[in-house]
Amino acid sequence: MTAEIIVRYFHFLAIFALFALLTVQHTLLKNKVDASTMKKIAVVDAAYGVTALLVLFAGLGLWLWVGKPAGFYTHNWAFHTKVTLFILVAILSIVPSIFIFKNRRTTVDVTIPKSLVMLVRLELLILCIIPLLAVLMANGVGYIR
Ligand code: HEM
Repeated sequence: MTAEIIVRYFHFLAIFALFALLTVQHTLLKNKVDASTMKKIAVVDAAYGVTALLVLFAGLGLWLWVGKPAGFYTHNWAFHTKVTLFILVAILSIVPSIFIFKNRRTTVDVTIPKSLVMLVRLELLILCIIPLLAVLMANGVGYIR
């Protein structure tokens, strides 16, 4: 019981941090940013990556280690849709991360491509859908046997 409470707590804490970091990143990504802002964006992006790993490991723990039997999720389309959307967010985050990493040590202003901001917005939109799938799967909706 204790292990499940701890893993579930870290799943939620990491999810809140993930949302917060991506929202901060979206706020900082203006048309043109100066060198110090670009450095801040790079730090936020790195923290976003680490936090996403925490969400994943805690989620894997809830699926395979603690709580309900793994089959409760393995045979649930809402769960598989949730994990697929999570992987999609990870893939969408690659392009902004590469751009941010390349420009992290800039000494001049950087023009942020509009497409990059749209990618971050798409990530945020998908992250708003995932909790719905989480609540559905947690209540057995989507379970196929
Ligand atoms: C940003 C990504 C994610 C978000 C926003 C998210 C959200 C949530 C939420 C809101 C719950 C609680 C559901 C409830 O008790 O009603 C939950 C539980 C859970 N999540 Fe996630 N999750 C994410 C990623 C993942 C990943 C990647 C996995 C698996 C690899 C995962 C596996 C689980 C499991 C197994 C539970 C327990 C459900 C239960 O209580 O039966 N989650 N998640």
